[in-house]
Amino acid sequence: MSETYLLEMNHIYKRFPGVLALDDVSLKVKEGEIHAIVGENGAGKSTLMNILSGVYPFGEYEGSITFKGADYQVKSIKQSEERGIAIIHQEFALTPLLSAAENIFLGNEQANKGVMNWQLTRKRAQELTRSVGLDIDVNILVKDLGVGQKQLVEIAKALSKNITLLILDEPTAALNEIESKNLLELLRKLQKSGITSVLISHKLNEVIAIAETITILRDGKTVDRLERSKDTITEARIIKAMVGRELTNRFPPRSTSTGEVLFEVKNWNVENPLIPGKKSSDNISIHIREGEVVGLAGLMGAGRTEFAMSLFGQSYGNNITGDAYIRGKKINTKTVKSAIGDGLAYISEDRKGLGLVMINSVKDNITLANLEAVSNHSVIDLNKEVKVAEKAVEEFKIKCPTIAQATLNLSGGNQQKVVLAKWLYCDSDVYILDEPTRGIDVGAKYDVYNIVNNLASQGKGILFISSELPEILGVCDRIYVMNRGRIVGDVPAKQATQESIMEMLI
Ligand SMILES: Nc1ncnc2c1ncn2[C@@H]1O[C@H](COP(=O)(O)OP(=O)(O)OP(=O)(O)O)[C@@H](O)[C@H]1O
Ligand SMILES: [Mg+2]
Repeated sequence: MSETYLLEMNHIYKRFPGVLALDDVSLKVKEGEIHAIVGENGAGKSTLMNILSGVYPFGEYEGSITFKGADYQVKSIKQSEERGIAIIHQEFALTPLLSAAENIFLGNEQANKGVMNWQLTRKRAQELTRSVGLDIDVNILVKDLGVGQKQLVEIAKALSKNITLLILDEPTAALNEIESKNLLELLRKLQKSGITSVLISHKLNEVIAIAETITILRDGKTVDRLERSKDTITEARIIKAMVGRELTNRFPPRSTSTGEVLFEVKNWNVENPLIPGKKSSDNISIHIREGEVVGLAGLMGAGRTEFAMSLFGQSYGNNITGDAYIRGKKINTKTVKSAIGDGLAYISEDRKGLGLVMINSVKDNITLANLEAVSNHSVIDLNKEVKVAEKAVEEFKIKCPTIAQATLNLSGGNQQKVVLAKWLYCDSDVYILDEPTRGIDVGAKYDVYNIVNNLASQGKGILFISSELPEILGVCDRIYVMNRGRIVGDVPAKQATQESIMEMLI
């Protein structure tokens, strides 16, 4: 019996200068299912979905698409939405200076005879945010929301349209375990109301838990298609198809040898700039030894990023008090420049906003944080720059045709690797890594863990912020747990379990 599909993409090819991003990909999605697409960074997942959503219009790719039994040829995002397809992009597409409510109805305004109906806009926006489990006042500006909250606003925005197929490109990348669970529940709820979803994710446990069908891409080709009703689906099987080989260990082995106290923060207090008097860091004292990898676990909103940013040149917060020391010497945290100069590096979770100059090349981004190392008497030495960048591309396995490629054109995971390379090339004492593996595939995660181990073995101190508890447990020597701006736990990783940390988080 032949099956009928809501969506069929057949023999799709998409070429960019120097890159064949899609090389004969086919995707068949059944009506009402949750369908996952997995594959390494740069495999072509986002490109495939961008074709569907009209980002790459009909005519700019080869192959055929059928949707709801009819030919599907759209020329714009608007047209794809009219046909019932909405996409939530990997990178946030919201307008930071508008409110959550305005963003949700941007391009789809709630108006009567051309006059905005603000009351209705806010009321509907509040209903939508509530339905995705987001507890905010919809008048808040999007710039003041955390990454995870922005993601939920994006989903609320998609739901405000009348859609049949919802595409989510790594929607849980920025969310912690509890929020991710809620999001998956939300997808199930939408499924019951008749919405089909295509989910791109690097979190294979989630994919296995929720997807009826999984399509696996590798290097622009469809390499496998697994159906829950027919196949035995395991992470090992998916990984093997994704990377083309077995990956036996998720975390590289490492022998820890820690030395003296390297980094110390004492009685650190930070006020939330939006809510005067509310502390986002509440009398925090922590320390990191030489060669120690220290985790910082917490829920979204616990204040981990705010704490890190306040340390890094007071990039966040008001009325900051407290002291920070490296090797017993007080460091100047007043500006980003002085913080870097005194030995601190912060690798941001928000690669687009803070980590990269997107229109610049891979080379320029990698050498940006450490121009001195590639300069002679303040003149940039192009040869040195090229060498440093090429070495980084090789070491981090950054997938790009040349180092002159604009970072804008790299896949999301490869952009993240550029951010890491950029900071790891400046020689700091203490590295604060804020969700360093967000959006990167299992193989690349392993590479990042190796880099972390390598830094530790050189005697550096690492503060590893992550929302993935298995990762924190697998990578760190010791774990601080943060809850509502306070440190509520300090446990050796060997003695900790997911459950024991989870208890302190909530
Ligand atoms: N606009 C573009 N110009 C040039 N090359 C591009 C462009 N967009 C994507 N590519 C390239 O096409 C390939 C596929 O990229 P794509 O973003 O689809 O990967 P992905 O599977 O979504 O990866 P990730 O998991 O990292 O998000 C990559 O090699 C990428 O560098
Ligand atoms: Mg992608």
